[in-house]
Amino acid sequence: MKIKKKKKILITGVAGFIGFSLAKKIIELKKYDVIGIDNLNSYYIKKLKIKRLSLLKKQKLKFYKIDLIEKNKLYNLFKKHDFDIVFNLAAQAGVRYSFENPKSYTDSNIIGFINLIEVTRNFKIDKLIFASSSSIYGDQNPFPKTENSDVNPINLYSLSKLSNEQFAKSISKKLNTKMIGLRFFTIYGPWGRPDMMILKYLIAAYKKLSFPLFNNGDHYRDFTYIDDAINLCISLLNKKTRKKFEIFNICSSKPLHITKILKEIDKYSPKPLIINKPRDKADVYKTYGDNKKIRNFLGKKILLTSYKHGVKNTCDWFFRNKKIFT
Ligand SMILES: NC(=O)c1ccc[n+]([C@@H]2O[C@H](COP(=O)([O-])OP(=O)(O)OC[C@H]3O[C@@H](n4cnc5c(N)ncnc54)[C@H](O)[C@@H]3O)[C@@H](O)[C@H]2O)c1
Repeated sequence: MKIKKKKKILITGVAGFIGFSLAKKIIELKKYDVIGIDNLNSYYIKKLKIKRLSLLKKQKLKFYKIDLIEKNKLYNLFKKHDFDIVFNLAAQAGVRYSFENPKSYTDSNIIGFINLIEVTRNFKIDKLIFASSSSIYGDQNPFPKTENSDVNPINLYSLSKLSNEQFAKSISKKLNTKMIGLRFFTIYGPWGRPDMMILKYLIAAYKKLSFPLFNNGDHYRDFTYIDDAINLCISLLNKKTRKKFEIFNICSSKPLHITKILKEIDKYSPKPLIINKPRDKADVYKTYGDNKKIRNFLGKKILLTSYKHGVKNTCDWFFRNKKIFT
């Protein structure tokens, strides 16, 4: 009897928040071979990345420490593994940091992304699914933002993401690999990013540090729970696409005022000392996406986690794992 070969998936940025969560879930499905790469940079506490990675290694993830900038290493990896699907989740994330260290954005998000696509074109890859960001929409009305809304990137991070989309779109006409860009909106949850608000607030409270609150918390974010985002990514794995290039919003479509989220966290954690700061020009006032396109594309009902449940799970996870942050 002929044994059907498992499809091979490469996940870049596998030690990061979304990459880790995706790899974990795909490995648990036991239907795919998962290979991960990451440069393990120290943009935020490395211990968290190492811990995520050690959990994945226990699940038998094959891991290589490779930077997207190292094109030859990427090429050799592709040659060795014959991937079917590539998820590009490696990037220099963060909006404010793009003013401090712009080069890390051009290296990882622009040159690194081009390297990945150039390598991909030498192999028979079915799909390249890559992370874009809600930040490319900028600030203007109207809301919610659909994938056809105008874009207005206001910092280097969002510019790098928009350039990824535009490059992928143009090159997809010449390649057989289907390209899918995912505009993630404020993903949060267990194993999340310590540079993002919810974990930053919990860490500040735990370490008795102050927490800078910009614009009195008068911002809205379309908080999207990690498991919901991962379920959508997994649904895209086997879904056939006719078009060579697609873009989808990955969002809950329920923007929440920052103060509402902080109040919810306060139910589970002591409060940090809050230091009010003026509005940071790098921040958009509101993010609010429309998720109809992906719902229609997948043709199924998408159940989304309530923010109360999501915040509780995140806090529970934090208090079980707080030693990572000491
Ligand atoms: N988390 C969110 O809310 C959110 C929102 C919008 C977009 N995104 C995008 O989703 C993707 C994943 O985000 P995340 O929250 O998991 O971020 P993350 O920082 O936790 O993960 C990114 C990982 O990529 C690795 N990396 C960075 N540059 C690399 C390079 N040149 N080569 C190899 N590895 C590299 C980092 O070490 C890190 O482990 C990113 O592209 C990010 O911009 C995330």
